[in-house]
Amino acid sequence: MHKVIINNTSKTFEFLRWTATSKCSFTNVNFAFSVSSALKFFVFRGVLASFFVLIFISPNCLSAQQVSKNATGKNGMVVSAREEASRIGMEVLMKGGNAFDAAIAVHFALAVVYPQAGNIGGGGFMLAITAKGENVALDFREKAPALAHRDMYLDADGNVIANLSTLGHLSVGVPGSVDGMAKIHEKYGTLPWNELIMPAVLLAENGFIITELDAIEMNKHLADLDSLNPNNDYFQPDRPYKAGDTIVQQHLSLVLRKIAQAGKKGFYDGPVAAMIVREMTKGGGILSFEDLQNYQSVWRTPLVGKFYGHEVITMPPPSSGGIALLQMLYMLEKLKIKNYPINSAEYISLLVEVERLAYADRSQHMGDPDFYKVDAAGLLSAAYLKKRYANIKPLAYTPSANVKPGHTESEQTTHFSIIDQFGNAVAITTTLNSRFGSKVFVSNAGFLLNNEMDDFSSKPGVPNQFGLLGDSANAIQPGKRMLSSMTPTIVCKNKKTVLITGSPGGATIITSVLQNILQTLVYNKSLEEALAMPRFHHQWYPDKIYMEEGWQSGIFTMVVSTLEKAGYPIQYRDLIGRVDAILKKGNMYYGGGDPRGDDMAAGY
Ligand code: GLY
Repeated sequence: MHKVIINNTSKTFEFLRWTATSKCSFTNVNFAFSVSSALKFFVFRGVLASFFVLIFISPNCLSAQQVSKNATGKNGMVVSAREEASRIGMEVLMKGGNAFDAAIAVHFALAVVYPQAGNIGGGGFMLAITAKGENVALDFREKAPALAHRDMYLDADGNVIANLSTLGHLSVGVPGSVDGMAKIHEKYGTLPWNELIMPAVLLAENGFIITELDAIEMNKHLADLDSLNPNNDYFQPDRPYKAGDTIVQQHLSLVLRKIAQAGKKGFYDGPVAAMIVREMTKGGGILSFEDLQNYQSVWRTPLVGKFYGHEVITMPPPSSGGIALLQMLYMLEKLKIKNYPINSAEYISLLVEVERLAYADRSQHMGDPDFYKVDAAGLLSAAYLKKRYANIKPLAYTPSANVKPGHTESEQTTHFSIIDQFGNAVAITTTLNSRFGSKVFVSNAGFLLNNEMDDFSSKPGVPNQFGLLGDSANAIQPGKRMLSSMTPTIVCKNKKTVLITGSPGGATIITSVLQNILQTLVYNKSLEEALAMPRFHHQWYPDKIYMEEGWQSGIFTMVVSTLEKAGYPIQYRDLIGRVDAILKKGNMYYGGGDPRGDDMAAGY
């Protein structure tokens, strides 16, 4: 008998996997995902699943799928922060859904199995290219509630009040994720909405098994989670969490069912909206029912730039990432980056100098385009950039001390990349901002709310307690979106998609994406090699190169010492970014889940 081995997945998930492999010998899978029949199937799942395995799944069929850190596939690929979500996405593709359908299913699945950043209480960006070649960007970023105001995190003396914008009810922006998914489905979806959400419902209902990393992250934040949710039974009571624990989220499953049945109204209206508002009232938040009702995500025009014969399609404001990325790529090509060996001291110094300039612009000139006129064309013009890079030379350190400080951000978010058999390519980066967002669960609804308000400048021009800096372009205003670094990006050559990429990591998102593009498309590294390379990051201010610990060993130490001799201050730190990308070479898609996390690729 053929044995199916699935690591770190719940029994429910095994069931879903089996029932969704439509390219195998059966096609009638819709019923497995439908709201009305899901419960019945759950009851009988063990028996039925075994039946399907015995009767329908042939070894050939299974060998066509690959789920691993580094997977290959000729037809489609999904890479996300969690194996369960990647598998669900692949199964949607295999049953004939497109990349947009898969993205919706993956997004809702991550809200269950990756509560650190996957969400329905947060927001994000989608960058996509359709099979017809249309470039698409959807902004489902959170917004400041109507009662928000510029000085809401300041005390009577005008000082920033510690933790107010990062922890608890007042840090919450109006969530955009559910509206975003609904908009994507309305325009590009081909499978029924409820079918795309049911895998997440069942994962929440029957549980998923946490990994070592999950347990570490959940335990690290227990104190805040407990104090902000005193009577809540979130994530089950058995603490501390350990790898292998099963997390059942009954309340969340009911909320997801509601969304599956009622669409966006299942979240922004009715009982779920009422629970959110009640939670706000209880904890002194300002997000109102009207804020929820009024939330709309926005289709935006993607930014497009050229780089060494490639076309780079990326996210416009309120992401700062797209403009910064295109600025840096343009300057690096002009500085002939290709002439320097990858990760040599010269290479690093050139990247650092262009990063310094791009992040300087970020802190001054970028914000929500609906409130602040971002001069993207000016910031990306050849004439402007020529002046910016004119004095850059390898290993010529330029101190940041005489310029205005830049902007840093908390580092939890998640990115996933998808391509389908039709040629649709989707890159989504989505976030609660910090790990577990505001740490506030909506009582009896079982989901976390974001703390995205901290991505505004609490006090323009003055650093807050976390070193966050900015100016009036990113000051708090009611209904405004906070500046982001999320940089979902797709690179094409001769109109064909060659790379889909993105990363979590706050301010380090942009430089992680930059390095991924250089590694794979300029230095021709395999995706696996590229993702394993140690990363570095500079954001203009503080004036130091942040380097992953990996730079402290082997031949890398010589590179670091050359940089230090040239005057570059270095600070080692923990992991930078988690890039989940898809690279096309020949007729094969290579999916790469970043080795820094539990990220996993699923292709067929
Ligand atoms: N919250 C991280 C970002 O949007 O950049």
